[in-house]
Amino acid sequence: MKYHIKLSREMIKTAKIAILPGDPGRVEKTAKVFNPDAVFLASNREYTSWLTEISSNKILVCSTGIGGPSLSIAVEELAGLGIEYFIRIGTTGAIQPFIKIPSLIITTGAVRLDGASKHYAPVEYPAVADFDITSALIQGAKTTGVPYYKGITASSDTFYPGQERYDTYSEYVIKDFQGSLEQWQKLNVLNFEMESATLYTVASAFGLKAGCIASVIVNRTKNETPDDSVLAAAEKDLADAVKSAVEHMIKTEGGND
Ligand code: URA
Repeated sequence: MKYHIKLSREMIKTAKIAILPGDPGRVEKTAKVFNPDAVFLASNREYTSWLTEISSNKILVCSTGIGGPSLSIAVEELAGLGIEYFIRIGTTGAIQPFIKIPSLIITTGAVRLDGASKHYAPVEYPAVADFDITSALIQGAKTTGVPYYKGITASSDTFYPGQERYDTYSEYVIKDFQGSLEQWQKLNVLNFEMESATLYTVASAFGLKAGCIASVIVNRTKNETPDDSVLAAAEKDLADAVKSAVEHMIKTEGGND
């Protein structure tokens, strides 16, 4: 039994693919989009897990909580149970004016604005997605009919200063991050989120495979907070895209070997 996620090999059966939302509240819904007969496995702290199935392949859905530290625990423990493919699904704030809402962003590489990845590999080590998972996510995004973009994500440990937000308690952002949003825009970064840098670094360091797809819920060039109406649709697009991506992965390389 793994320390935090409270899962064992017996519980996850033959699953090799894990879908990783940040939010425990999204696990059941995502698992049931794959298969209405999905089963609850465990819940401890931010880690809620359900086992689902598609084309006779077991798929684990396990939440990671927000940010790199809690995600790194999930990836460590899931890797120890035999998971080889990690697909993060989440929400994101776009920083390029051309990015629409609703839309999906597939992260090909992440700017390492986190701390956890530095405990696994030095800063020179790249945070890059697995090519095959990324291709599958592109196929999946195409089936939803909403626009999708692929490219670099700034992946920050903090939601507020690291993403240069001033609508905060102190209304202050330290010098290191002042002007950073504009800098990332000029460097063709598409968006901010909080887990892909850790996920990609840890997965690559372990010789495992990872990808990330996120629903755009806000465009920071227009506003700072999302409309509630956007959130439900964003969740559905994401679940549909990842289901289709996993079907593609299974067809092309076999999810459970
Ligand atoms: N998640 C983030 O990290 N940033 C946003 O703006 C929205 C979702």
